Amino acid sequence: MRKFLVPDKYQQPEDDKRVQLELRARGKLPHHIAVIMDGNGRWAEERGLPRAAGHQAGIASLRDVTRSSRELGIGYLTVYAFSTENWKRPKREVSMLFRLLVKMLREELAEMLENGVRLKTIGQTSLLPKLVQQELNDAIQRTSNNKGLTLTLALSYSGRWDLVHAMQAIAMGVRSGKISPEDISEETIRAALTTAEMPDPDLLVRTSGELRLSNFLLWELAYSEIHVTNVLWPDFRREHLYEAIREYQKRERRFGLTGAQLKQAHAGSDIEVPEAQRSYVEKMISRFTRGKSEL
Ligand code: FPP
Repeated sequence: MRKFLVPDKYQQPEDDKRVQLELRARGKLPHHIAVIMDGNGRWAEERGLPRAAGHQAGIASLRDVTRSSRELGIGYLTVYAFSTENWKRPKREVSMLFRLLVKMLREELAEMLENGVRLKTIGQTSLLPKLVQQELNDAIQRTSNNKGLTLTLALSYSGRWDLVHAMQAIAMGVRSGKISPEDISEETIRAALTTAEMPDPDLLVRTSGELRLSNFLLWELAYSEIHVTNVLWPDFRREHLYEAIREYQKRERRFGLTGAQLKQAHAGSDIEVPEAQRSYVEKMISRFTRGKSEL
């Protein structure tokens, strides 16, 4: 029997379970983590390898981050896999990325099904090659009833594209009389974005040291904590994710309120807010206090 052809089934290491317990005990975990996976090309160049090797190695990082997020009980993980701007890369690199994506979907589907990972996409996926669309639709459909982590791949996505697409949908609603301009609110815009069904990210992680949003989730990241690491994406593993979460846990998320108001809200007492802002602030506070029971 050629046993080496069958990879060992993944099991969470015992010492990692302890690290995760400790992390949970330290404080609130982010409910939604967004990741800009950057540095694949540089990782490959540093090793004198073709860029493809960097992207290939990046898949192992994504696998480890997905596994550890699911084990921790993170609700949503959204990763920037292919931006609208990435279409400008050499044709060969773009095709190679899509080939890798198909390979990744085929190889990871069984584990996603077994572990309750639900796959989603955001972005203009109708522009992707037909085979990629078919593989994505198949994986999305087969994982659609999973209740664990929601893993969203941003593909042919950019924050500005999504805002334009949302504005067009709202404008059509105005034209057909379904909505009046005065009724357009933050909720109307949020509901028209492709991210409508997910909460805003609590934490954004960016690898390879660049201090930019690069057109990722522009609306949704308004109040997210940002963690930038110099580690290149192919070297990024769960230890680096835990470090980002520890840093997140040390920060005080204020959503524009004062520290004293937050303490008041945290203690369960009402805070004084003008009537017009009340529902917005209440929503922010509920977002802040959510997860306290998860300690
Ligand atoms: C950025 O590195 C990374 C990407 C453009 C693609 C990320 C893709 C993966 C991690 C693989 C899984 C997803 C797919 C679509 C197969 P870069 O190439 O910009 O790195 P550089 O800035 O060092 O050149």
